[in-house]
Amino acid sequence: MHNVKKIGIVGAGQMGGGIAQVGAVSGFEIRLQDTSAGVLDTCRGSHKKRLGRLVEKGTLSQDDADAALDRLTYTERLDDLADCDIVIEAVIEDAALKKELFQKFAAMFTHGQILATNTSSISITQIATAAGDAADRVIGMHFFNPVPVMKLVEVIKGLATSQDTTSRTLALAEAMGKTPVPANDRAGFVSNRVLMPMINEAFYAWMEGVAEPAHIDQIMTLGMAHPMGPLRLADFIGLDTCVHIMDVLADGLNREHYRACPLLKQLVTAGRLGDKAGRGVFDHPG
Ligand code: 3HC
Repeated sequence: MHNVKKIGIVGAGQMGGGIAQVGAVSGFEIRLQDTSAGVLDTCRGSHKKRLGRLVEKGTLSQDDADAALDRLTYTERLDDLADCDIVIEAVIEDAALKKELFQKFAAMFTHGQILATNTSSISITQIATAAGDAADRVIGMHFFNPVPVMKLVEVIKGLATSQDTTSRTLALAEAMGKTPVPANDRAGFVSNRVLMPMINEAFYAWMEGVAEPAHIDQIMTLGMAHPMGPLRLADFIGLDTCVHIMDVLADGLNREHYRACPLLKQLVTAGRLGDKAGRGVFDHPG
């Protein structure tokens, strides 16, 4: 049993915004915080558009979409999240920034609230050190992009995470319409430990001239029934994010074999970061 009515989310980017949308549609009150008013405005616009699309498609009634939008509150002030029953951090993958936030969370949320992070690879145990005595309430809630579509939430226990925190997090993810799957706290958990080497290998195959990028992706979509080929998926995730996760894997698992392919790093150096930059492996105009 999760006992959550109000969810606080920190970070209104693609992931935080997606988690907020899913939470609101599932009936939770959402307080979404970001330090940038511009990011919050973009996120509000995207929620209206996406919920409108669900109404057009007949997936959601107009009344339910309106009610979900009413349940969403956007704020620049972290203090506005103080009465939430759980906080989910979804800021950029910066360990120092996350630790600064979890130190604040431990001081703000003193009534047993879950302190969750949507980190894609940073150690939960490491983040939890910043929460001091509240480390037993820190847990990983790893959502997948696009959050409204992907069913999985990888739930990661840190070394100090209590069984009570884990049980309540699993129940909450289910109440948000997701399928939670537990994993332990090793770099990249299960998802990125398995996914990223495949993506990296696709870059090596391209670099070594085994096939053109489009053909590498075609082989994986048609032969392995992946919805996107690994190179298209890398653009979707962000090439800089892929390099960052590979670094975390190499350092955390102590194996050089996880280091990012030189060609992948070169594209990042050139600013070809994927969808968000308009160009990565492939061009993404508009
Ligand atoms: N937000 C919300 N909904 C979206 C969306 C978005 N950004 N993008 C697409 N959708 C919805 C569409 O509305 C559509 O819904 P419908 O079927 O009810 O009409 C459905 O998804 C399919 O979309 P499209 O028809 O436009 O396009 P596709 O059929 O090509 O699907 C895709 C798009 C869902 C993104 C599909 O290509 C896919 O599943 N790709 C793989 C995604 C993936 O692997 N994600 C995990 C990334 S790794 C990660 O997030 C972890 C991190 O730590 C790195």
